[in-house]
Amino acid sequence: MPLKTLLLITASLAIAGSTSPNLRAQGPAPTPPMGWNSWNHFAGKVTDADVRSAADAMVSSGMRDAGYVYVNVDDTWEGTRDAQGVIHSNDKFPDMKALGDYIHSKGLKFGIYSSPGPKTCAGYEASYGHEEQDAKTYASWGVDYLKYDLCSFGGIMKKADDANGGGTAAGYKLMIAAYKKMGDALKATGRPIVYSLCQYGVDDVWVWGPSVGAQLWRTTDDINDSYGRMITIGLGQSGLNSYAGHGHWNDPDMLEVGNGKMTTDEYKTHMSLWALLAAPLLAGNDLSKMSDTDKSILMNREVIAIDQDKLGVQAKQVYQHGDFSAWAKPLSGGRVAVGLINTSWSVRDLSVALKELGLTGSVKAHDVWAGKDLGTVTGTLSARIPKHGVALFVLTK
Ligand code: GLA
Repeated sequence: MPLKTLLLITASLAIAGSTSPNLRAQGPAPTPPMGWNSWNHFAGKVTDADVRSAADAMVSSGMRDAGYVYVNVDDTWEGTRDAQGVIHSNDKFPDMKALGDYIHSKGLKFGIYSSPGPKTCAGYEASYGHEEQDAKTYASWGVDYLKYDLCSFGGIMKKADDANGGGTAAGYKLMIAAYKKMGDALKATGRPIVYSLCQYGVDDVWVWGPSVGAQLWRTTDDINDSYGRMITIGLGQSGLNSYAGHGHWNDPDMLEVGNGKMTTDEYKTHMSLWALLAAPLLAGNDLSKMSDTDKSILMNREVIAIDQDKLGVQAKQVYQHGDFSAWAKPLSGGRVAVGLINTSWSVRDLSVALKELGLTGSVKAHDVWAGKDLGTVTGTLSARIPKHGVALFVLTK
């Protein structure tokens, strides 16, 4: 058996043996985190003013009241370390504590970004060798969420593998240890800080993520504002449902809704699929410039309720053939959310047998995007779906 496989099995046994599902349910992310992250829209240009205006818009648009609370600064806030090794922000972010206070004053939470390597992906100062010190600094700024992005730690892993003859598990073990080191350091601060791993979904992170103290982990490489990338990532989540649950979530990356390069139907598919996947809902657009359509997609209460449902179950792909994919997510109260996705370039009449959804007899169907009860459905659930579109239902027995 390859060493890596053995280590994975050992890690999953350790998780199963040491942490009951109930214990894991306690933590800072009982349901998938919701908020905003600066990267998809602002990338390396983000400033303190942009983040404050995102916080303002989160309140004035109604997003906060719809459940979006984290205001997360991604890469490029970092400056240099002082003589004591304490990290400081750069000129774009004059005072991180003041920024945190501002965000908190709006009833929101403050998120930040770093890497276990010496440098972040954008080449800024990262946490290698300063994990405990950085965790303490973040806590002193009032940080509530850390995204920890592998980036230059990949070089350290490669060196370890090369030194051991290449292709070994040496780098892999170092990576898990590095993620655990920061997980432990965050815990030691005594402040509840959501810990989000970003290593692009390699090495079965969903198996060992909980053991390093993470509440979520990226399952893919980066999203971008295109239908092709979004749908590849979304449909690629099939089979990961058993690794998600209260307090620990698969993260197919941040939302692109409102960034302008997909159609309204495509953004609805994006939002529906992420909700079915019980994914974190981190808006990635410029919140100060949202159209009514963007708002109606991001703030659809019924879609958000599917994502945040208290059962905490991630959808399963129940059917896939050609351009048609059907997903089912069990909800509280014996209900089931169902998404029928048309990935073709033309309108399609699609249907799925209720028995494929684990249902028999008749159900009451509610069309989520139309906000309309459809009455009783027997045998087969059908919908006419535009190109790249979705029909999202909640079925009640
Ligand atoms: C990686 C991550 C992105 C973003 C950038 C920042 O690419 O996957 O989500 O954080 O780094 O540099």
